[in-house]
Amino acid sequence: MIVLGIETSCDETAASVIKIDDGGNGEILSDVVLSQIEEHRPFGGIVPEVAARAHLEYADQVVNQAIEEADLNFNQLDAVAATGGPGLIGGVIVGVMTAKAISLAQNIPFVAVNHLEGHALTARLTNKVPFPYLLLLVSGGHSQLLIVRNVGDYTRLGTTIDDAVGEAFDKSAKLLGLGYPGGPPLEAAAELGDSKRFDLPRPMRGKPGCHFSFSGLKAAVRRTVDALPPGELLKQDINDMAASFQAAVADVIADRTRRAIKEFKMQCPDGQHLVVAGGVAANTALRQRLDDVAHEQGLVLAAPPMRHCTDNGAMIAWAGAERLLRGDHDELDFTPRPRWPLDPDAPKATGAGVKA
Ligand code: KG4
Ligand code: ZN
Repeated sequence: MIVLGIETSCDETAASVIKIDDGGNGEILSDVVLSQIEEHRPFGGIVPEVAARAHLEYADQVVNQAIEEADLNFNQLDAVAATGGPGLIGGVIVGVMTAKAISLAQNIPFVAVNHLEGHALTARLTNKVPFPYLLLLVSGGHSQLLIVRNVGDYTRLGTTIDDAVGEAFDKSAKLLGLGYPGGPPLEAAAELGDSKRFDLPRPMRGKPGCHFSFSGLKAAVRRTVDALPPGELLKQDINDMAASFQAAVADVIADRTRRAIKEFKMQCPDGQHLVVAGGVAANTALRQRLDDVAHEQGLVLAAPPMRHCTDNGAMIAWAGAERLLRGDHDELDFTPRPRWPLDPDAPKATGAGVKA
């Protein structure tokens, strides 16, 4: 089965063609990602209206390129998948409309994919990880720990009660004048800095449960920066703050993940893998730390290659293909969903600072 996947829920216009065999083995035939970073950079963050217009302008071109690079024609596609949510709704609409049009014109099934499910299942394409596994999903919009039992079968063990970890990276990087998006330059600065120079908090560390909180850490970065002598930040101050911030994030994530692994082992004694996904999973220091935690707890860490941690079309094509193999698809009256939890039955996160 040959599946086209379209991703437009955030600031990447992406399309990919993959092939899946009856045994569930996947192969990526093409993988085109057009980043809008330059369009958003002047604003220091993603502007939804700018994103929607850029998706509209480039979606067709990116899809055509994905088909061409796979050396195929549209009439060789067996199905088309697009991110149906959650995400910035203007962009999601563009991707869904494009996919519906292809479905109609080629008379092939359409699948609306949950973007988070795309991240959740990617390691099965790139690393051939079997079910069940524990997933740490860390991106610009999400920080979650989930048990992945099967396609569509997720148990959320923890989520953030305020900011997502990628958001904390982006906002702290902005405070340090490191530009946008903040993860990569902050990581680069951290490599040159002293992580012990600034004593930053480790929110939620040691607390029961597996929830995260990052807004206090971001506020502590601001307070610490404000307390430095007035004037422009010195390069060393920036590097040391980046290193201290990254160490605090790694400590918190290690603590929460360790707790989640214990829960996972109780619920799924046969499970052997910790999978990390989402843009923040591109962070090498964090991967290293998670590798240590997994090892210490008797699990194997599986991390997709960097380009498949951040948003891409292959993850959507793959999640669509896995759903199609199970006999699922969506109708053309599917309505894009700005909110779409993977585990709708998870108890609501509670505590100080919980966002509504
Ligand atoms: O998954 P993603 O591409 O988009 C969302 O669905 O959110 O994740 C983007 C996030 C941004 O916050 C970005 O700063 C962060 O991932 N990120 C990183 C790194 N590369 C990207 N954070 C830390 N270290 C990195 N190397
Ligand atoms: Zn994402």
